[in-house]
Amino acid sequence: MKFFIDTANLEQIKEAQALGILDGVTTNPSLMAKEGVTGAANIINHYKEICELVEGDVSAEVIATDFDGMVKEGEALAALNPQIVVKVPMIKDGIKACKYFSSKGIKTNVTLVFSAGQALLAAKAGATYVSPFIGRLDDISTDGLNLIAEIRLIYDNYGFETQILAASVRHTMHIIDCAKLGADVMTGPLSAIEGLLRHPLTDSGLAQFLADYQKGN
Ligand code: E4P
Repeated sequence: MKFFIDTANLEQIKEAQALGILDGVTTNPSLMAKEGVTGAANIINHYKEICELVEGDVSAEVIATDFDGMVKEGEALAALNPQIVVKVPMIKDGIKACKYFSSKGIKTNVTLVFSAGQALLAAKAGATYVSPFIGRLDDISTDGLNLIAEIRLIYDNYGFETQILAASVRHTMHIIDCAKLGADVMTGPLSAIEGLLRHPLTDSGLAQFLADYQKGN
């Protein structure tokens, strides 16, 4: 399972990278705005900085919602660095753009996916990644994890190579459940990733080992 961090915060990206387990980064316009990164030129520079910090794929979202606009923006983003994955919304023109980019060998991430049918279309369009937003489904009392299971089944039935990128991951259990269900990738906050480290028996066991070592010295 690949681990992506879902943030535009450079310090958190550095921290996750330092752990040695990071495979990439996802961003979106809201995450950019949260870090105060606004305006096309600043956003482009921010993507460049992120690409320098990590070795894996970096999702960069287009703002245009029409085919021509998405192609123009996506091609410019892809030209920044081979790590860039062009993120397109799950709308009609987004699917057309996804097909266009995949035919040109440009990596894509179809975002804002909330149903198995949408995920099927993304795979048909040759998406590199499909991003089902499990946390946002949970927010409206719908089972986000069930969507991951449905997409896994459909993709395996037909051998689609599109990778299931479980997005809108909110906490550590989401990561574990997505791993059990066979999601190829998860993207979440640093807090959810670091949550995987913790167990009280690890802490008490280590404290005991260190105390026993001191007794003999
Ligand atoms: C995915 O790429 C999105 O950036 C993200 O996972 C959305 O998460 P949220 O629902 O916590 O905003």
